[in-house]
Amino acid sequence: MNNSTKTQAISDAVASLYNTYPFPPEPILDEAPPGYNWRWYWPTVYSFCTGAAPVDGSVRVLDAGCGTGVSTEYISHLNPDADVLGIDLSERAIATATQRCQSSGATNVQFRQLSIYDVDQLEGEFDWINCVGVIHHMPDPLAGLRALATRLAPGGFIHLFVYAAVGRWEISLMQRAIALVQGSQRGDYQDGVRVGRQIFATLPEGNRLKQRERDRWAMENQRDECFADMYVHPQEVDYTLDDLFKLIDASGLEFVGFSNPEVWQLDRLLAQDPALLARAKQLPLKDQYRLIELLDPEITHFEWFLARPPYPRISWEDDAALLAATPGRNPCMEGWPSQSIFDHNYQIIALSETEFKVLQACDSQRLVQESHRQPATVADLISQTGATLEQIRQMHQKQLILLRP
Ligand SMILES: C[S@@+](CC[C@H](N)C(=O)[O-])C[C@H]1O[C@@H](n2cnc3c(N)ncnc32)[C@H](O)[C@@H]1O
Repeated sequence: MNNSTKTQAISDAVASLYNTYPFPPEPILDEAPPGYNWRWYWPTVYSFCTGAAPVDGSVRVLDAGCGTGVSTEYISHLNPDADVLGIDLSERAIATATQRCQSSGATNVQFRQLSIYDVDQLEGEFDWINCVGVIHHMPDPLAGLRALATRLAPGGFIHLFVYAAVGRWEISLMQRAIALVQGSQRGDYQDGVRVGRQIFATLPEGNRLKQRERDRWAMENQRDECFADMYVHPQEVDYTLDDLFKLIDASGLEFVGFSNPEVWQLDRLLAQDPALLARAKQLPLKDQYRLIELLDPEITHFEWFLARPPYPRISWEDDAALLAATPGRNPCMEGWPSQSIFDHNYQIIALSETEFKVLQACDSQRLVQESHRQPATVADLISQTGATLEQIRQMHQKQLILLRP
């Protein structure tokens, strides 16, 4: 078999899995889906990558490998001014995605059955590409990422998610065990799910694979679609951090940062020993990440943003620039107005008195100066609430507020 025949055969097998078990198997709703994910909301994506809120929301978005359209539907409802396109290999996934978005009244979205390898067939470029849980299922992930890079507009961002090898060790063993038992029946995904469930049921209590499945995955894996996606996939590449950065370096795009930055803090692992923590923090940043990968085998995936330069980066260290900025409350929160809210990461947090006042002021009409109807600035906010510049910086850091220069 030559390379392109092999690539096609693998892509056909992947399409066949998702035609059998379209993913994700979320129910179709007749209204906008509840809640938010800040990674699907352009102002927070742009702010995370550049430090500043964007001027407007009229962006072109590609959801590459959109599956049954759960992310695409959110993106389209959360960003009503955006123009959204979802593509996927699987015909059944695209049919479900189309039905999902029609049912919930998402009108700014279209779908097309198309491989990421063939995105050169699409017109124009995209400001923002979402590609979650996809390229690690491609026979040549780098070729997939490079193809997407050609469709990214200058100053555009791409959000990616791939599996991490260390945290998926038990999954990988089980995948190989199922394939071994299936033998020539590999490719019959329903048989794979049956075999996998039989093995788990019969393994002795205390077996590490069984324990891991029960403690971490069993709840979502009640659905055969999820079980199949995890254990009987015909194509999966799991990444170490080194491999991940090799992929990124070869993509021609720039690493902006992990989109779960809280995971990549050494403090959460070494804070009990300040001297050791300080020593580890002397390491180059990539080695700090490597250390976290080694010390925390719970990390089962990598998620991160890449950019096509040039793009602005505002740190807000300059007091004058910060005082002149226009603040806004990040809408990615639930429970507001209250001092106890779910933040952008759906973590419950307690707002301080000052934070609460700042967010109230952000929402308030008083922030629009009556004389010339200019939006209020951070300077106005500070004079109304008594907050300090440092507190404003921290609120920005915590994604409670967005700032526009
Ligand atoms: C695990 S699902 C992820 C779906 C969606 N991105 C999500 O996060 O819910 C992987 C999807 O990638 C699609 N896919 C795999 N290879 C692809 C390719 N070469 N081009 C387009 N889609 C692909 C599959 O058909 C499947 O629907």
